[in-house]
Amino acid sequence: MSIIKSLTNDINGIIKNAGYEVENLVLQPSGRPDLGQFQINDAMNLAREYHKNPREIATDIVTELEKDNRFTNLNIAGPGFINITLTDEYLIECLNKLTDNLDENIDKKEPKKVIIDYGGANVSKALHVGHLRSANIGEALKRLARTLGYEVLGDAHLGDYGRPLGLVIKEIKDMYPELEYFNEEYNGDYSEIELPITNEDLERIYPLASTKAKEDEEYLEEARQITTKFQNHERGYYDLWKRIVDISKEDIKKVYDDLNTSFEIWNGESDEMEFFDDLIEIYESKGLLTDSEGAKVIEVATEEDNAPMPPLLIVKSNGSKSYDSTDLAAIIERKKNYNPDEMWYVVDDRQSLHFEQVFRAARLGKVVDDNVVLEHIGFGTMNGKDGKPFKTRDGGVMSLKNLINLVNEETLKRVNPETVPEEEKEEIAKTVAIAALKYADLIPYRKTDYIFEVEKFASIEGKTGPYLLYSTIRMKSLLEKANDLSMDKITKIKTETEKDLALTILNLPVVLDKSLESKSLNDIADYMYKLTSLYNKFYAENKILTEEDNNLQTSWLTLTKIIYSINTMLLDILGIKVPSKM
Ligand code: ARG
Repeated sequence: MSIIKSLTNDINGIIKNAGYEVENLVLQPSGRPDLGQFQINDAMNLAREYHKNPREIATDIVTELEKDNRFTNLNIAGPGFINITLTDEYLIECLNKLTDNLDENIDKKEPKKVIIDYGGANVSKALHVGHLRSANIGEALKRLARTLGYEVLGDAHLGDYGRPLGLVIKEIKDMYPELEYFNEEYNGDYSEIELPITNEDLERIYPLASTKAKEDEEYLEEARQITTKFQNHERGYYDLWKRIVDISKEDIKKVYDDLNTSFEIWNGESDEMEFFDDLIEIYESKGLLTDSEGAKVIEVATEEDNAPMPPLLIVKSNGSKSYDSTDLAAIIERKKNYNPDEMWYVVDDRQSLHFEQVFRAARLGKVVDDNVVLEHIGFGTMNGKDGKPFKTRDGGVMSLKNLINLVNEETLKRVNPETVPEEEKEEIAKTVAIAALKYADLIPYRKTDYIFEVEKFASIEGKTGPYLLYSTIRMKSLLEKANDLSMDKITKIKTETEKDLALTILNLPVVLDKSLESKSLNDIADYMYKLTSLYNKFYAENKILTEEDNNLQTSWLTLTKIIYSINTMLLDILGIKVPSKM
């Protein structure tokens, strides 16, 4: 159990001894640091419950607290706010518990199995900025939940099933009508066919085909038919589809790799659709599948709805299977193969209706137990300076690769030529660029839209990834320089800055819990900035390496070591890699 939590429990016990009972006691970091380090605000509530004056209650509690030698400067402010300060001796004792491992500063949760669906990249289409947020938030939530004791699997859930693939194949057919894939008589091995198409070609073909389909009804119709053909595993079309998926997947993996994002499960929508027949059987046997103008749907509206709640579309009137059905099939597959306690979907807020429909359908069909949590973890968009979703200069969709390049250009300008050798420059600039982008993406509350400002993100000052990296590298280099000095014990805590650092360190578990609770990384990102800038203040105030008081020097180095290990842990949770220098 974390120090802060066991301290909270102890205080709860002390309050009980004073004759009162508080549910969910929280030790709030004080809003008035001049009065105390923490404050307890419960006397006012207790007053109502016990029909007493709140100051009287606060006095009873303080009298009990005074018997405990961990506390000092206990006082009551205003109507009954209790201010608590920890003694220096006790703070030192707490910090010393954290010198070799941070486990005492984490509250593990009841183990749970969670599947997080946070990829969603589409085969044969370039990843775009929308996929960036899924990847960043999803990967970080996965790492956070793991740190807190959950078993978590990430699923890439590639978009490999819908009409875009039909369009791409239609265009390839027009470009290379002679390809054996389109020859009904061909009965050889498709894998031996040479396919003159690279991933770059695919990324060009899709927008082209999509434009053509908008202007040409016949073209669109053939693309639709082709979609149904590969979905039905029709020879030739299915095989070409598979080739395209393989080519594209390789590139998608590289982009995710650059983002330090990895998945345990690399399913695509097509893999989930292996469970389509099961889906139909379940819903048909329960009488939940209805016909609607030639389409098959599941009605999910209830009488309580006061906003439109359209039915979940399973099969479209033209016979092709819908996006809706891929997500319902995925729930059936995940239940069967992994039986998780929770399924989380880290997908743009604009799909919230879709997930509401899917989850309702899953509940109606009872495809998971009632206690299994299905949660859409939505997020806002990254916007341009005009407040609209970030676009290229000519108004097109900004690909993720181009976005990374934009940031990379900025970080490359800022690599320090005195510390980074020429041949490492590119690589380091890239790592810093990813950190800049990720941190900027994680620091706003996830539901909030934010503006892409490349100079701000890449700056080495302020709430930025580069600032955190730079500071963390500096801590590391200090520890390396102090290599033969001892750094295993804190015996002195001198300044207010040091005390603030100590309190911030102790508050870490509260921040981790809050982040998991809100499923947003902003609290962690903020905390890192607070801890780091406080440390930098401390660093500027002291000459650690030349300090002559050995005990003080050891204390300072030990404090540095603890903070360095917290920063490394939190950067790793955020999915940010630390370069060796910058
Ligand atoms: N491929 C979809 C898109 O790019 C996102 C998929 C989101 N995940 C899901 N389980 N539906 O819009």
